[in-house]
Amino acid sequence: VTDRPLTLLWALRSKCEPMGCTYCYYGLPDVHRIAPPTKAGQLSHISPNDLKRREVLAFAATLAGSAVGRIIIAGGEALDWPGILELITLIKQAGIEVVVCTNGLPLNRPVIVEKLLALDVDAVSVSLDSTDPEDNDALRPTRNGRGWHDVVAGTKALIAARGDAEFPKVGLYSVVTRQRIDQVVLMGRLAAELGADYYVPQPIALEDDHQLHPELSLRVEDKPRLEAAFAELYAAQLPLVLPARAYPGQVVSTVDRTTSTARGCFGGHTLFFVQPDGAVWDCVSSLRIDATPATAHRTIRGADAAQLFAAPRGCAADCPLFSYECVNMWPLTDFHRIISPARSTA
Ligand SMILES: C[S@@+](CC[C@H](N)C(=O)[O-])C[C@H]1O[C@@H](n2cnc3c(N)ncnc32)[C@H](O)[C@@H]1O
Repeated sequence: VTDRPLTLLWALRSKCEPMGCTYCYYGLPDVHRIAPPTKAGQLSHISPNDLKRREVLAFAATLAGSAVGRIIIAGGEALDWPGILELITLIKQAGIEVVVCTNGLPLNRPVIVEKLLALDVDAVSVSLDSTDPEDNDALRPTRNGRGWHDVVAGTKALIAARGDAEFPKVGLYSVVTRQRIDQVVLMGRLAAELGADYYVPQPIALEDDHQLHPELSLRVEDKPRLEAAFAELYAAQLPLVLPARAYPGQVVSTVDRTTSTARGCFGGHTLFFVQPDGAVWDCVSSLRIDATPATAHRTIRGADAAQLFAAPRGCAADCPLFSYECVNMWPLTDFHRIISPARSTA
């Protein structure tokens, strides 16, 4: 949507039951019960500070006059939030594209699939980490122990219900860990077999002190395997939209966990990150959040979107904090390659 160039990545809710991903950005509830997060921007599945439904919907009702053209709704698990259908309705009424990120389980409820189609949602990104059910469910456990099978069933249900319709586009998002670099290609093949439209392998982002960092984070010695896996994926010519060709190189460049400069970064310019408590940040990166002065802290709570997101904020700046924490943002800014070519000819 070129006249409305802003994208919001909106982490809508904190809760994400019944899935409990071991590596989640939101951290582990058991850890947070003992030591609740205290830093600005730190997420938690058990945060008591989520905006109320009426606050979320009041903000959404002001979106029509803003420069926001696309909202990527993530979570927690947004499709389990009671206000989700009202929220999507308001966003679509404002003429804004909607991408829903889901753990895939709610797609087994026919009413959810019907509503996603009826509301003309533009894309649904389903998370799945491995072609091997056991491997996947070790990283993304569910209470019933059938996570992988339920996610694949939900994805198939959505694709089947869409039938010949163009939308929603359906994609798989897969977290890449050092133990499962071969899944970069295998998951692409599964996405194609399922009839998905796009596929994004996203490198795991864990802080140095995370208990799973030694086991799962990519290391410098993994770079050749990672490069080879991405090369094989792009060479496979699968009938899928993949992230832009520059993305694999960006991913590999962040593995050594140093920072570099992102020239003309979209963070805080055309992309903003909104958290469940309403906080608005330039980017998901804790480096960028930590570098935000208190005077620049903003919220959607009680705000008018037309004022808060009136236009791109000046020129895209060079950000010196490009790192493993933010490289996953690049495919998000590329959704026009998935959604818009068809939309513009519709
Ligand atoms: C936080 S989830 C929220 C949306 C939804 N509940 C889901 O499961 O997709 C959004 C995406 O972030 C990914 N993710 C979570 N923690 C991550 C981490 N530490 N590193 C990389 N990706 C992560 C998930 O796998 C998922 O694809």
